[in-house]
Amino acid sequence: MTSDHMIRTERLLLRPFQTTDAEAMHHLAGTRAVAAGTFLPHPMDRQAALSWITERVEEQAAGRGVTFAITLAESGQVIGAIGMELVVAHEQGRLSYWLGRPYWNRGYGTEAVTALVGYGFNSLKLHRIYAPHFHTNPASGRVLQKVGMTHEGRLREHYLRFGQRIDVELYGMLREEFLTKQADKKGNGR
Ligand SMILES: CC(C)(COP(=O)(O)OP(=O)(O)OC[C@H]1O[C@@H](n2cnc3c(N)ncnc32)[C@H](O)[C@@H]1OP(=O)(O)O)[C@@H](O)C(=O)NCCC(=O)NCCS
Repeated sequence: MTSDHMIRTERLLLRPFQTTDAEAMHHLAGTRAVAAGTFLPHPMDRQAALSWITERVEEQAAGRGVTFAITLAESGQVIGAIGMELVVAHEQGRLSYWLGRPYWNRGYGTEAVTALVGYGFNSLKLHRIYAPHFHTNPASGRVLQKVGMTHEGRLREHYLRFGQRIDVELYGMLREEFLTKQADKKGNGR
């Protein structure tokens, strides 16, 4: 299912970003709805989208992170992005992800996060994967619950976004928990 740079799921293909994705990214990630749950630059014109893609590619080349374009496997359409900042010394990854507004609430977020968590533990051999989300963004918390992450706590007024101080909910999963879940799934024939 995975190679170093592609991850195939039931409905999605996660693949490396290309500079030619800047146009799609500017349309999808340029909306306030997407920006409000993330630290993506806002407003995001085509040039800002291109800079974002270039920074992610450089980060990946330096071993500080991995980023994938989330595409629909059938059509190749780009619908969002997912990645992890890596701290190699701690064998740790910090997840982040977004989807364009038209693609919300169809299970794509959960499908992509499940795939990246699997990639992090199986291919990158991480010990811990974690994800902070804004308290004001319960859909993201729901995704992390559905993936099987543990709620580890709330960081009060941790971030400042669009002039608002925002509490942050922290979710995490350890390697051993991931392996136990995998073994349970196999035991259940899933
Ligand atoms: C967060 C995000 C990736 C979720 O992706 P998605 O594809 O819509 O997620 P899924 O469809 O897999 O699951 C969403 C879940 O949240 C639930 N949900 C949606 N809106 C909700 C709300 N306002 N309150 C509570 N739950 C909500 C859905 O019902 C669904 O849960 P269910 O399957 O139990 O019914 C998407 O909303 C997004 O890109 N938001 C903007 C960027 C962002 O916030 N990124 C996350 C940064 S941490």
